[in-house]
Formats: sequence, C-alpha cells, structure tokens
Amino acid sequence: MKDRLDQIKKDALAQIEAADALEKLNDVKVKYLGKKGELTAVLKSMKDVAPEDRPKVGQMVNETRAVIEEMLEATKTKMEKAIREEKLKQEVIDVTLPSKKSSVGHRHPNNIALEEVERIFVGMGYEVVEGPEVEYDLYNFEKLNIPADHPAKDEQDTFYINKDIVLRTQTSPVQARVMEQGKLPIRMIAPGRVFRSDEVDATHSPSFHQIEGLVIDKNVSFSDLKGTLEEFAKELFGPETKTKFRPHHFPFTEPSAEVDVSCFKCGGKGCRFCKGSGWIEILGCGMVHPHVLEMCGIDPEEYTGFAFGVGLERIALLKYEIDDMRLLYENDIRFLKQF
Ligand code: DAH
Repeated sequence: MKDRLDQIKKDALAQIEAADALEKLNDVKVKYLGKKGELTAVLKSMKDVAPEDRPKVGQMVNETRAVIEEMLEATKTKMEKAIREEKLKQEVIDVTLPSKKSSVGHRHPNNIALEEVERIFVGMGYEVVEGPEVEYDLYNFEKLNIPADHPAKDEQDTFYINKDIVLRTQTSPVQARVMEQGKLPIRMIAPGRVFRSDEVDATHSPSFHQIEGLVIDKNVSFSDLKGTLEEFAKELFGPETKTKFRPHHFPFTEPSAEVDVSCFKCGGKGCRFCKGSGWIEILGCGMVHPHVLEMCGIDPEEYTGFAFGVGLERIALLKYEIDDMRLLYENDIRFLKQF
C-alpha cells in the first residue's frame, strides 16, 4: 500500500511540475484528489485492509493528499503571479509618447469684430440690448416710419411668417422696443442677426448681422452723432482714420447720412481695397425722426436723439481683409484659425 501511495505521490508531483497552464493543474487535481481520483480509490479499497492497519494507512493517505495539495497550491500561486506580471508588462503605458492631437475651435471673425465694437461703445457708456429675430411688422416697419407701400416691404426682400410677422430685416426695430419702454435717457447698442431674401454671393447672404445704435436725451444734436461716430471709426480702424458724412435717406431718421471712413489700407490715396476712391462706406445713421419718437411715446419737443446701423460682416471683412463673405459662413477651421 505504501508503495502504491508513493507511486501516486511521485506521479502527481511530476505532473504538477510539468503543468504549464492553470487548466492542466486543475486536471491533475481532479485526477488524483477528485471524487473519482486515485487517492479516493485508495480510500475506497480500505475495506480490503486489515482493520488494525487501517488507521496507519488512513494517515498515509492523508499525508499524501496534503503533500499533493500543498504542491498544487504553491504552483498555482506561482503561475498566477507569472500571468499577472506578463499582463502588466503588456499593459505598460509609455507616458513619453506624443498625445493624439485634437483640434480645438477658434473665435469667429464676426465675434472678434463684435466684441471690439461692443468694447468701444460700452466704454462710452452704452448698454448692450437684444431684440427678437422673429419680429412684428409693426416694429420692423410701421413704427420706423416705413409705411405699408414702402419698397423695403417688398416680398423679394422680406421673409414673411404671415402678414403681421416677419424675420426682422434690420436691427432697427430694437430702437422702437427700447423707446417704448419709456426709460430715458437711452444709450444703447443692439447687435443681432437679420434676414433678407438675397441670393448668396461674395457680398450678400440671406442672413447676416447688424449692430444698431440709439441715443435719446435732451439736447442731442447732429454734432453729438458726428463726434460719436468719428471716435468709433478711430477706435476701430486706427487714430489716423477720417470720416465723411454723405447725405442719404432712411425713413426713420431725418436728416440721414451714410458714413465713409478714409481707407485704412492706403490712407486715402486710393487703392484696390477702396476701389481707388480712398473712402470706404461703413454705416448709415441720422437724427431719429420726430414721427418715430412720437409713435414710440417720446415727446419730440423735449427729447431728440440719433441712431446708426452698422453691418457686422462688413466690419469683419474690412478689418481682416477678407474678400468673400461666404468664407464667414463656411466655418472652415483652417480659415478661422487665421484671425
Ligand atoms: N437699418 C438700416 C439698414 O438696414 C441701417 C440704419 C441706417 C440703421 C440708419 C439706423 C440708421 O439706425 O439710423 O440699412
């Protein structure tokens, strides 16, 4: 019996040593220690052993089992450790490798220009306000002295939602909304998106942006308007910039003017940029029409004011020397990154 147990132990240990995977160890365990295993078979054959020898044989079986179990356990621990180490080695992260480059966005030239315009006017004590993009005909036209038969109301220019509601064609309706609130004096700019049924080309888009300006107070005169816009032009395009006020017509201002600035590219000599004239048109303006003041609940005998409207894209195109407006709407990061 002893020989048989020794043989089992020897075989089992040899197989444990030869095992090169956890599954093989498990096979050895089943083969020798399992329910139908060899050691169990020895125990089952105890009935053939003389009763007085049984305790001794039992002890020998237990010892054999203990040795095999211990060896199994030790080998399993060693194997698991090796597997862990191998896995760690494969998972090593090289922190010195260059990272993947993710491209970040960039501020849009429109936004850069808008922030610049806002900075200038906020510095002069103006408030920045907003109005709705979907606007009543009443504010977009009527209260701005643009009567029903005015050509600006033509369906070719205006996107109508219904007969009373439009996509605002200008930021000027914000003037009427602010005046109506009745808090005087007023010193505000209103930037925002406007819509016109225009074909897309290098200088037109069905949706673009304007910045409206409005000042209402006692004794506001045309020279206040001139001084303000001259200062604005100098801040925006440089201290050498000259301005020229050309008479013009807008229904909601009287008198009205368009403002040109001396070409900041050639200083007024004339170049490709200003089409040889030395001047570049940048905005429309005027003294708020007394009728507009009245319609918005302000007494024109007591208060006067001026207003102006600047095209934001126009400023961005000029300032950053971009020659096609469409580039502003494509948002190609390679283009945007340049500003
Ligand atoms: N709303 C005018 C336009 O879209 C621009 C404008 C001109 C606004 C004169 C004004 C102004 O406030 O006084 O062409």
